[in-house]
This record gives sequence, structure tokens and C-alpha cells, in this order.
Amino acid sequence: MALHWKSCFILSLCFPLLAFSRSSSSETFDEELTVRAMRDGKVASRFSFSTLLEGATPRNPQNLSTEDDSQHYTLFPLTLGQILREYAVTELHLTLNAGKWDYERWGYPDEPDVGTGAELWAWMGEGGSTTVDLRTTSPVLAFAPQGGLPDWEHPHAVRHASLPSEHVCTENLTPFLKLLPCKARAGIARLLNPHRLFDADWHGMGLHVVWLPDAGMQVRLTFQSVADPLRPASHRRDWSFASIFDRTIDTTLSPQPASLEADHAVFDLAQQDLPLNVSMRWDVPFLHAAGASEAPLSVRRTLLGPTQDYGMLAVSILNAGPATVRAAYLETMPWIVTFYLHTLVLRVDGELRRASLFPPPLLYSLHSLRSYT
Ligand SMILES: *[C@@H]1O[C@H](CO)[C@@H](O)[C@H](O)[C@H]1NC(C)=O
Ligand SMILES: *[C@@H]1O[C@H](CO)[C@@H](O)[C@H](O)[C@H]1NC(C)=O
Repeated sequence: MALHWKSCFILSLCFPLLAFSRSSSSETFDEELTVRAMRDGKVASRFSFSTLLEGATPRNPQNLSTEDDSQHYTLFPLTLGQILREYAVTELHLTLNAGKWDYERWGYPDEPDVGTGAELWAWMGEGGSTTVDLRTTSPVLAFAPQGGLPDWEHPHAVRHASLPSEHVCTENLTPFLKLLPCKARAGIARLLNPHRLFDADWHGMGLHVVWLPDAGMQVRLTFQSVADPLRPASHRRDWSFASIFDRTIDTTLSPQPASLEADHAVFDLAQQDLPLNVSMRWDVPFLHAAGASEAPLSVRRTLLGPTQDYGMLAVSILNAGPATVRAAYLETMPWIVTFYLHTLVLRVDGELRRASLFPPPLLYSLHSLRSYT
């Protein structure tokens, strides 16, 4: 059972008007919290805060030398807007996650970007002054644009960088909350209690900017966490906002679902009386159920070989589901690790396939890597 709860324009608490209009474009804000009980008794929460700058378009890098219109945002975060325009960024994704997402038990996450540590990727127009930072790569297949890319004279390129060892801590939440029009003062953001969230089994946050050609520029802030409400002694897995977040939404009243569908309840915060403390109680005791993986596609990576100088990396990608899945696999290694790609062996269902490499590997030795940089 999943609770899905959508609230539009909840920020009336902060602002007398929810959608702001200016001469050229208006801004709207929308927030949503999804709470999902998982097979192993844990509870996944996903917060999504979305601001749309209606009618806005990305900045053409060809025009970077000409004066840009001054930006007047009411809901859209100003600091972010300035960075996007200064560097002509069309699409940007930044995620900070702590811990390893357990696909087998939890299935696919509601927000797909759950890689450990920090990860940044952006689609930018290739302007006149292209500076390529060699610490970033350009994996176009793995990071396809989620929004639209304007049809400019020069094509767009993706830049990707990751820092898996980057730790996420409570300090990261403050700048995140500052980007929200009401900070943590109203609406579902009231539940973003750092002491509880950073204590969760898994947590992560994201910033996503996309251009929706028919709508405008959208910035979406996300926060996900996995809480453990299990009390093994009593076999109970009941939870409430108060027990997971140690807070309620002290701004609505009757926690009656606005609508109850087959397997999920939907609450519209704009129609609710406060405070809201949604809870879920099971009549039957919780028993750990073993079973097939919740996510049909799984990836296992093993380092083989007896010594450090002649190691072998084995990657097995398994699709346990009945449907064909199109997948792209991206591997990022520190520059000190050299792969001899001519020893690549590819097997599909145990059968040897000819491995064709595209693009052909260029960097074989440290020497050529040095001359490349
Ligand atoms: C941006 O650059 C393009 C191509 O050089 C040009 O056609 C367009 O008028 C410019 N727009 C602005 C706002 O300067
Ligand atoms: C929230 O709901 C739970 C379950 O009904 C209850 O035990 C708890 O006391 C409530 N907390 C608040 C602050 O309303």
C-alpha cells in the first residue's frame, strides 16, 4: 500500500498569491510527498518540490557576451537562476546520497538517481569558449536529457562528474531548504526534520533543472529517505508522520484521504485541515517474506584475480523479469586504474559474443594518458 499525497499551491501560507505573474513569465509552485511501505517493513518517503518559470527558455551560449535580461524571480531560486544563465546550462542534475540503495528489497526508487555520494551532470550548449574539464566525462547514453534541448547552431553536450566518497550530512539540508520558497516553515517541508532524516537507513537529496519546451524552466528539489518503523519484538510495522519524522504538518485537520484508490490514498493539502499526522496501522503482525527481487534488473560487479597488477573486473547484468529491458552500463574509474579493453569478453546468456567497442578505446597506457592531458 502506498500513500500518495499531492498538494498544489500549499505555499499560500507564505505568500498571499501562489502563482506570480510578471510581464514575461509567471511562476508556479507544486509539492508532493509519496510514502511507500516496502516488503521488508521499511518505509520509503519521497519529497518533491517543483517550481516552474513559465515560458522561460535556456540561454543560448552564443549570446553569453551580450547583456542578459536581469532576472526577477519570486519563487525560482535566484542563486540557481544566475548560475544557469551565466553558464548557459539547459539541464542540470545534482544528487547527494548516503548509503546503498537496496534494489532487491526496495525495488526501483521513486527518484531514480540514488548513486552513493555526489553526482553532477549537466547538458549545456557548446558555446564559443568551450572549456573541457578532464575530470568530467560525457556519457550521452547513460544521461539522456530528461527535458528538451533547444535547437541551437551548436549542439549540446553532457558533462558528468561523481564523487562516491562524498558524505551527506545535516549541513547539506540547510542550503537545500533555502532554495524552497517557504524554507521548512510550511507544507510538507515541515516534515524535513534533519535529526530523523539523517538517522534513516538511507537518505538522499537532489536538484533537477529541466527545460520543458511547452511549459518553461522547471526546478525540482527532491529528498528521499528510508525509515525503519519495525518493532521486531511485537512484529509491528505501524508508522505515522509523528513516528517517522517526529513532526506533523501543523498547517490542516481531518486526515481523511481526499480519495482512496485501489492501493493508495491521496491527500490534497490545500483541502486539509491541520495539523496532519497521517498514520498506517496493520491488523496482522509483520512477517519477513522472502521472495524474488523487487527490481527485475540487477547489476553485480566483482574484482577478480590474485594480484593488484593483473586484476579482472567482472560485471554481470541480470534481467530476472519477463520483459526485455534496454540498459546502458556506465563505469567510472579513477585515472590511476588502466583498463586493457582489448581483453574484454562479452557473454550473453552464457554464449560468447564478439565485443565491439564504440568508440574505440584510445587510452591504453599511462604514457598516452599523460600526453592526452
Ligand atoms: C542570440 O544569438 C542568436 C544567434 O547568434 C541570435 O539570432 C539571437 O538574436 C540572439 N538573441 C539575443 C537575445 O541576443
Ligand atoms: C500521530 O499518529 C499516531 C498514530 O495514530 C499517534 O500514535 C501519535 O500520537 C500521533 N502524534 C501526533 C503528534 O499527533
